[in-house]
Amino acid sequence: MKFIKKTSVKLMILTIFMSCTSPASEKFDNSESLRNRADDFGIIIGAAVEQSHLSELKYSETLKTQFNCVISENNMKFSFMQPNEGSFSFENSDNLVDYAIENDMKVRGHVFLWHSDYQIPDWVKNKQYSQLKGVIENHVSGGMRHFNDKIYAWDVANEIVLDSGAGLRNRTLSGGDYSVWASSLYDDSVIRSAFYKADSVRKEIGDDVGLYLCDYSNETKGQPKSDKFYEIVEDWVNDGVPIDGVGFQMHLMEKYTPDYINIKAQIDRFQNLGLDVQFTEIDVRIEEPFTRTKLLNQAEIYAQILRIAKEKNIKSYLVWGVTDKYSWIPSTFNGYGSGLLFDEEYQAKPAYFELLEELK
Ligand code: G3I
Repeated sequence: MKFIKKTSVKLMILTIFMSCTSPASEKFDNSESLRNRADDFGIIIGAAVEQSHLSELKYSETLKTQFNCVISENNMKFSFMQPNEGSFSFENSDNLVDYAIENDMKVRGHVFLWHSDYQIPDWVKNKQYSQLKGVIENHVSGGMRHFNDKIYAWDVANEIVLDSGAGLRNRTLSGGDYSVWASSLYDDSVIRSAFYKADSVRKEIGDDVGLYLCDYSNETKGQPKSDKFYEIVEDWVNDGVPIDGVGFQMHLMEKYTPDYINIKAQIDRFQNLGLDVQFTEIDVRIEEPFTRTKLLNQAEIYAQILRIAKEKNIKSYLVWGVTDKYSWIPSTFNGYGSGLLFDEEYQAKPAYFELLEELK
């Protein structure tokens, strides 16, 4: 009952807000922005950005008004950054970094080492495994030296653990379990070398950028993938691998209530290892139709994750996109969408207002 009352008040506020912001007006209420609240609160609220959308006024206005951080959604991935061996291409990501600097926003780097087929160029696929240590070291070095101190944290490696929790994605497996970067379930030597290189480069250039390992479905203690992710990182810490923290991507589903108790337990054990924890790719996808009840439920999940961030001193709360208009969700999960804070018309959704409320 209490939830129903609270949410109906919020719906009234939402209705008032929506009636004041016609899609055509392109006006934004800066005084009430998420960004202002986040700045006051000392938390990084970021969004994944596709550089090509920055020329769209509403996209750019929403981004710089509501968020204090950007993450490149695709342009810093391997095939974009080093399409040919030794030949780096930074034009699109430089544009994004310039935009962030102009608007006094932080930049997160995403990502040096990732298995996903579409972003590994053929020249890397054609290398022998024994050559990949050198390949990733040059890649990390080239990227870090170029961006220098403009990036506050790098996703050095991403999604290295199999969904089953059996070990690492690797070259002996197929489909989504395949990764060029490991030769077996246990051989993380190339991945570790990416972190060692990143650490030595940051020391050379005198930068204090944070080095992170990120994954999805790694946030819940007691689940096989989350436990394996923890075991791997614990080994790294014991072996002195220079890692500063872990990213929980948090690609969630509205229809499943997250196990908040075990999310907190998972955070605790990484923090007990001396590592930082960040939420790096949040979205909460909804199955069609996108009813009001589902949007309110989604809002509660977004808010609960932010409450956990506040309770556990997690300083980065990053969502995977600015608007549902360009979200990766509908093309990946048939029948799902509406996962972000702003809808396709850039109207703020209940989740947005819940976050504002939480940052009061
Ligand atoms: O750029 C090409 C374009 O030239 C072509 O016409 C078009 C046709 O399919 O594809 C375009 O590339 C797409 C690219 O996004 C840029 O828009 C790729 O097909 C598409 O697969 C790619 O998807 C990205 C995906 O990573 C790659 O696997 C999503 O935008 C991006 O949101 C998603 O982000 C990942 C994170 O990096 C890691 N964690 C999971 C997250 C969601 O999958």
